[in-house]
Amino acid sequence: MTRLTVHLTVNGEPAEVSVEPRTHLADLVRGELMLTGTHLGCEHGVCGACTVELDGAPARACLTHAGTCDGAAVRTIEGFADDEVMAALREAFSQEHALQCGYCTPGMLVTARDIVLRLPDADAERVREELSGNLCRCTGYRGIVRAVMRVLEARRTAQPDDDPMPDAVAPRDDRYALSLAMTGWATGPLPPASTLAIDPTDRIAGEPRLMAWMATTLVLFATVAATIFAALHP
Ligand code: FES
Ligand code: FES
Repeated sequence: MTRLTVHLTVNGEPAEVSVEPRTHLADLVRGELMLTGTHLGCEHGVCGACTVELDGAPARACLTHAGTCDGAAVRTIEGFADDEVMAALREAFSQEHALQCGYCTPGMLVTARDIVLRLPDADAERVREELSGNLCRCTGYRGIVRAVMRVLEARRTAQPDDDPMPDAVAPRDDRYALSLAMTGWATGPLPPASTLAIDPTDRIAGEPRLMAWMATTLVLFATVAATIFAALHP
């Protein structure tokens, strides 16, 4: 079968990848480079879950043939780890409860960062319009719009010699942790938020820390359920 050799830069690193002509960019970054933070939903350009930055602009990775990316610069969600705007957005998403399952979040964040940089004066209505190409089945969008507005407003109120992202994005509160506890149908006193809070990046990229947290939680709930069952059926 004919294969194409593609040379590109991914998250600042040069890469040479051999792909089939039909391979799209999302399969290239996920399957060949193991950058699984880029998600696939519809695979026909509707949901936006696969959005990456391609030569500086957001692009649908599922609609972009890998073979056309020879010489291109690609940035996936993993490539924004040290980006200050993305850091502010991640924090704002957590603050505003702008994600639940997190499946749409990598694409949402890439689009949101583009909005923040390209449209510094955008209002909520414009943000909503700009995000209309990214679908979320969980949140109802209000938290996402609020999160983007939070970052935009923080940047607008920043003084010229301030830190580029001042404290206008407040530290994480307990709401995200609370929702996790409620999801786990906890009925007793809440554990400290610090034991529940998960950096959304972990949820997005499937970090081992999240898997460990989920395993611990499952064991905990199984233990409680077994104890209750044993008490009711002596
Ligand atoms: S997976 Fe690319 S737009 Fe849905
Ligand atoms: S958080 Fe689940 S699809 Fe958006």
